[in-house]
Amino acid sequence: MQELIFTDDPAAALGRLLRSRTGRVFMLADENTAAFAPSIAGCTPVVVPAGDDNKTLKSARIIWQAMVDGGATRLSTVVNFGGGMISDLGGFAAATFKRGISFINVPTTLLAAVDAAVGGKTGINFAGLKNEIGVFREADAVVISATYFSTLPRAELMSGYAEMVKHSLIADAAGYGRLIAVDPAAIPPSAMLELLRDSVEIKRRIVSADPSERGIRKALNLGHTVGHAFEEFALLKSCPLPHGAAVAHGLLAEMVIANLCLGFPSDELYRYAAWLQANYAPVRFTCDDYPQLLGLMAHDKKNASPDAINFTLLAAPADPRIDCTATLSDITAALDIFRDLLSC
Ligand SMILES: NC(=O)c1ccc[n+]([C@@H]2O[C@H](COP(=O)([O-])OP(=O)(O)OC[C@H]3O[C@@H](n4cnc5c(N)ncnc54)[C@H](O)[C@@H]3O)[C@@H](O)[C@H]2O)c1
Repeated sequence: MQELIFTDDPAAALGRLLRSRTGRVFMLADENTAAFAPSIAGCTPVVVPAGDDNKTLKSARIIWQAMVDGGATRLSTVVNFGGGMISDLGGFAAATFKRGISFINVPTTLLAAVDAAVGGKTGINFAGLKNEIGVFREADAVVISATYFSTLPRAELMSGYAEMVKHSLIADAAGYGRLIAVDPAAIPPSAMLELLRDSVEIKRRIVSADPSERGIRKALNLGHTVGHAFEEFALLKSCPLPHGAAVAHGLLAEMVIANLCLGFPSDELYRYAAWLQANYAPVRFTCDDYPQLLGLMAHDKKNASPDAINFTLLAAPADPRIDCTATLSDITAALDIFRDLLSC
C-alpha cells in the first residue's frame, strides 16, 4: 500500500524516508523543478526537459542511461520531484528498470499532488497519443505539501484545482460547494494541505477499491472523455491547454450530457458554468469542429467501440454513474448547449 505523507516540511519527510534505504538514490526533476529540489547527500540528480511534450521515450532513455551509469541496482530508488509529467515519466522509468525498482513521488504542482502522483498510473506519450505506453505501479510513498505551490502560475494552479473539484463532484457534494466558493490562490498553505488530504482520500478510496479500473475507478474519468478531446483539439490547433483546464471544460460538457440523459439538475449546471467562466480561459470551437471533437472522443482508449462513446456521468453532485453511453446526437446537442452556456 502506498504511503501518503501530508506535511509542511517535504524535504525533511523525504530525508526520513530515504534514511532507511540502502541502494543508490536518483532524484529526477525537470529543468524548472531542479532549481528547488531538496539536496540529499549522495543522491544522483537526473534532469529532463520540462513540459508534457517531453514525456517521451527519449526522456525515459535519459533516465535509464543515468541509472546504468550511476550503478543503479534493484535496491535503488527514484525520487520524482516535479509535476505530473515527472511522476508519470519517472514512475514509468522506475517501474520498467530491472523489472521494477522503488520510487517516491514528491509532487510540486497542485495537479500532481491531488491526482497524477497518486494512484499508480505511470506512462509516456507515444506516436502523438497521450499516455499510450505505461504501466500501473504505485510509488512507495507520496510526499504531499502545499509549500511548493506559491511559485505556480495561476493557470497551473487552476489546472490542479479542476481535479480537486472533480473529486468533490464524485463523492462530496458539500465539499464541492465550498471549493467553488473560494479563490484557490487565496487559500493559505495549511488550509490547502487539509483540502488536499480530503481530495486525495477520495481518489485513494476509489483506487484501492478498483486498482485496475474495471469498475468504480472509472468514476475518476468524470470530465475526461470530453476533456481529453478538448486537450487534443487545442494541441492540434497549436494553442495547448493545461490538462486540468481541459478537464474543467470537459466537466461542464459532460454535465450537459448528464442533464440530457440522466436529469442532472439544471441549477447545478448554471452554477458550475458561472464558476468555470469566471476562472478559466475559454475553449474555442465552432459547430464545424464537432466531427473532429466527436472523433477524438471516440478514439478515447476507454471506449469499447468507435461508435459507442462511454462516459461516467453524474445524476447529481456526488452521484456518479459509470458505463453510461451517449449517442452522437446527444453529444452534438450537448456541445450546442455548452457553447450557449459559455457564450462562445
Ligand atoms: N498518472 C495520472 O493519474 C495522471 C493524472 C492527471 C494528469 N497526469 C499527467 O500529468 C501531467 C500534467 O501534470 P502537471 O500539470 O503537473 O504538468 P507538468 O509536470 O508539466 O508541470 C507544469 C509546469 O509547471 C512547472 N512546475 C512544476 N512545479 C512547479 C512549481 N512548484 N512552481 C513553478 N513551476 C512548476 C513544470 O516545470 C512545468 O513547466 C500530464 O502529463 C498528464 O498526462 C497524470
